[in-house]
Amino acid sequence: MKDFLTVSDLGRKEFSFLVRRAVSMKKRGARGQPLKGKTLAMIFCKPSTRTRASFEAGMAQLGGHALNLDPQSMQTSRGESAADTARTLSRYVDCIMARVYAHSEVEELARHSSVPVVNGLSNTHHPCQALADFATILDRKGRTDKLEIAWIGDGSNVCNSLIEACALAGSRMRAATPAGLEPDGRVVEAAGGAVELVRDPAEAAAGADVVATDTFSSMHGGSRMKKLSPRYRVTEKVMGASAADSVFLHCLPAKRGVEVDASVIDGPRSAVWDEAEYRLHAQKALLLSMLGRR
Ligand code: CP
Ligand code: NVA
Repeated sequence: MKDFLTVSDLGRKEFSFLVRRAVSMKKRGARGQPLKGKTLAMIFCKPSTRTRASFEAGMAQLGGHALNLDPQSMQTSRGESAADTARTLSRYVDCIMARVYAHSEVEELARHSSVPVVNGLSNTHHPCQALADFATILDRKGRTDKLEIAWIGDGSNVCNSLIEACALAGSRMRAATPAGLEPDGRVVEAAGGAVELVRDPAEAAAGADVVATDTFSSMHGGSRMKKLSPRYRVTEKVMGASAADSVFLHCLPAKRGVEVDASVIDGPRSAVWDEAEYRLHAQKALLLSMLGRR
């Protein structure tokens, strides 16, 4: 794999390997110098807490270095192209991670970069989140296949990547979204029988092993709130429709009382803090695969 722009850039085996490696790295508290001398450039065109901190901490824990480049203080702010930025950075660093608006922006970076490019979130995909989510699922459920995953709310970038992950893992998603906020049609078509689209949150949650949602206020805007609130909030009642041992996932940041009740996200079925922690371990596994010695 040169680049990691979508979950589908991985094969089944590679996906499963990274997810298992993330769980074993968490258990071992993996640290050391396997990425000594390696540098990751990070470009954030949108805000971030978890993605930025987990990539920087991950590189440090593996003996490498992460360089945060603020687009506002780069020449991109004065019109330098993504292509020329990628060509230049490729001469200095070993990997580029970018959080962008249009997915084509990260594809453009990858096209002109001679080093691997990682998508740290685009308007349509968030592959690093899906890796962390499946590592959390493996840790909590002991497997990643034959699971029923309910998605409630916005058919967002996080939802799209989770659908691709379900298809690779041999699990199924039932996604309840309002009209107009369905997941990306191309992702749904490629996933085939791995995803079913419904409107009713309780129908999506029925018997599910995992219930997942996302913030209703996306960083790329749009009038989502009216369509989503309050029908698509993950409440105790929605969780009650899922399996007795289900877990709740949310990529964060979360607004309690908007997309999820406080009693759910702060309750016993919530795995959101492990999920946030798994961003670190999953990305360390990814960086090792991309940059470590063969
Ligand atoms: N889940 C996630 O990507 O969080 P940040 O926006 O804080 O990076
Ligand atoms: N769907 C959200 C995810 C935030 C991590 C967004 O794109 O803003």
